[in-house]
Amino acid sequence: SQFHEFLAALPKCEHHLHIEGTFEPELLFELAAKNNITLPADKDAAFASIEALKARYLTFANLDDFLGYYYIAMSALIDAADFEALAYAYFSKAASQNVRHAEVFFDAQVHTERGVAFETVVTGLKAAQRRAEKDFGITTELIMCLVKHLPLPDAMKTFAHARDGGFFADGTLLAVGMDSSEAPFPPKMWTELYDAAKAAGIKRTIHAGEEGPADYVVQALDLLDAQRIDHGLRSFEDDALIKRLVEQKTLLTTCPLSNLKLQCIKSISEFPLRKLLDSGVRFSINSDDPAYFGGYILENYCVLQDTFGLTVKEWESIVTGAVLGSWCSEERKKQLL
Ligand code: HPA
Ligand code: ZN
Repeated sequence: SQFHEFLAALPKCEHHLHIEGTFEPELLFELAAKNNITLPADKDAAFASIEALKARYLTFANLDDFLGYYYIAMSALIDAADFEALAYAYFSKAASQNVRHAEVFFDAQVHTERGVAFETVVTGLKAAQRRAEKDFGITTELIMCLVKHLPLPDAMKTFAHARDGGFFADGTLLAVGMDSSEAPFPPKMWTELYDAAKAAGIKRTIHAGEEGPADYVVQALDLLDAQRIDHGLRSFEDDALIKRLVEQKTLLTTCPLSNLKLQCIKSISEFPLRKLLDSGVRFSINSDDPAYFGGYILENYCVLQDTFGLTVKEWESIVTGAVLGSWCSEERKKQLL
């Protein structure tokens, strides 16, 4: 429709995108073959073919059901060229949807745990970032996510490796975040990590309020001093929290198709878009894991438009909020506005 063309043309920022979540089944099978990695088709028939895997991705029971596939797929990423191919494919797709600036997560521990060096991951991602900026003019940043399903000392070790290796100081990494299973791992478990990041002057975000309650968002603010909240879907269960998010201009990086696919909401009409707009909370609309959830950023914008019928003015305020919530230089913000 005409409105979809308007949405396609809007200059966008993406703040909630797991690079491993852009691993399309075609590239997964290609890299698995190249690297002699056997996908576990003996245990799960979904890995028998690209078509079977795509069919399996059509529905997930919850976050952990999805994460099982997401972590297995990662095992096919071995050398720097694999990470470069993965990230370059995402940047080129994003640029085609008029994403001008992207802040991208990667799951460091999941790669180092299986014997891929931290430096290999970062080298490949950086090569893709450089090529994408040159080819498409898109600016990109990396946010290192630590995973909640591994113990705190493990997260501390990976964080210290990145910090002491100068990866934050030299601008290779922009910030730290946390992702993976939520409900059993409340933010209060991670104070040591967030204290260390704050002490080193490193920006901090965390996935909270996706499957977990609004109280996890409160914990993230009170105990971790998180400057951004990834998802924050359930924040509207707590009016005082919303008031605080508005006052502090904390960005919620929302992901509607992800919420739908992981059954956090039963339909897009349950996504709190009206509340986000009317409360004045700063938020952006993002794709999370587009290879798994049925759409990149534009498809997320379009499904919201088809459900909520926003005005041109409302969309302009959304993309402006996304620029203002970005962690780029003031100079770059001016270019994006
Ligand atoms: N939530 C938590 N962990 C994740 C996600 C998510 O949406 N995507 C990749 N890891
Ligand atoms: Zn996420």
